[in-house]
Amino acid sequence: MASIGACGLSGVNRQAFSDEDVQARKLLVKWASELGLRIFSDAIGNLFLRYEPKGSTGAPVLSGSHMDSQPCGGRFDGTYGVLAALEAVTALHASGAQLRRPVDVVCWSNEEGSRFAPGAMGSMVFTGTRSLEEFLDIRDRAGIYLRDALGQTLDAIPQAQRCPIGFSAYAYVEVHIEQGAVLEQAGKRIGVVTGIQGCRWFEVEVTGEARHAGTTPMRARKDALQSAVRMILALREHFADAQDHVRFTVGRFDTLPNSPNTVPEHVRFTIDLRHPEDAELARLAGSICSIAQTAGAPCGVTVRATFVCDPVQFRKRITQHVADAAGALGLEALHMPSGAFHDAMFLAAHCPTGMIFVPSARGISHHPDEYTASADLAAGARVLAEVLQKLATE
Ligand code: GLV
Ligand code: MN
Ligand code: MN
Repeated sequence: MASIGACGLSGVNRQAFSDEDVQARKLLVKWASELGLRIFSDAIGNLFLRYEPKGSTGAPVLSGSHMDSQPCGGRFDGTYGVLAALEAVTALHASGAQLRRPVDVVCWSNEEGSRFAPGAMGSMVFTGTRSLEEFLDIRDRAGIYLRDALGQTLDAIPQAQRCPIGFSAYAYVEVHIEQGAVLEQAGKRIGVVTGIQGCRWFEVEVTGEARHAGTTPMRARKDALQSAVRMILALREHFADAQDHVRFTVGRFDTLPNSPNTVPEHVRFTIDLRHPEDAELARLAGSICSIAQTAGAPCGVTVRATFVCDPVQFRKRITQHVADAAGALGLEALHMPSGAFHDAMFLAAHCPTGMIFVPSARGISHHPDEYTASADLAAGARVLAEVLQKLATE
């Protein structure tokens, strides 16, 4: 799978609804068809590969993640969770285990949000958190509409039967690389994920005046870039906390007219803000607008929220299944929260949900150097298979 959109030494560039995303989906569907799974897709392109052995009925157990990537991200982020779920279903099939309910391998659309922001679109639409219509007119940096890229993606998999958005699920379990260094430092192989910290995205627009760089006195300028820099520094200072819990990132920064000898007229930048506590995250998010406007004067400033996910605690029943499975397999496990967001964040409001982590070497992720040892990937898939069997038979 990692050869599709290969980038750097071992990374992938497979952004949502791109040609590479389509190729990856086709390969996944090919593997699923070889296993005899039934292929479904909903209107936002979430793929469901259903294992429905004789005697199984009712709402399926869902397991998967995403296969879209950052602009040049790692090969494991998301894709591991989809392929581990396919591997687990392969094992359930081979073992002939009697299941009471079907198991769906899921590939959620556009989890990363780097081409079409925000992220987790597939899982948000599936769970009714946001509507598909809200997203159709979003454009990427090349001006391509999501509705067109999505349409091409759906057309490319004609064998997928269309299913409704948001059907009921018995449970959802996602295995993912940790993307941080906690497991590695603790020397543990399995993370029993207890929950996910909250995250909010904002888009800030700064409007100044384009003027000649040689003739316009400094005093007379409304320089949108200088204002944006002041805002970012003021926010960074405001968010600094002694415990280092706040996560504040400006990851995208665009300026117009982007010319060396014109005072910048217009700047647009993104804010990704995260915190484990709901009230604190809301408080910090609520302070952005006034800090930005004060620091940004004399330029005009608007702040727009584009993504809200509140902190989530997973159900004890599912975390217990994960801990039990790791214990039964003799794998050392650590209960831990997730710093990254995942599709599981939104599924948690839809059905009992949990996650399994495996270690990330040096905690590196959203980078081609992202790496997890094969033995750790296999351990996570083994735990997942046990948990899926348990959920599908209990
Ligand atoms: C997921 O990609 C995240 O940014 O946490
Ligand atoms: Mn991911
Ligand atoms: Mn990611």
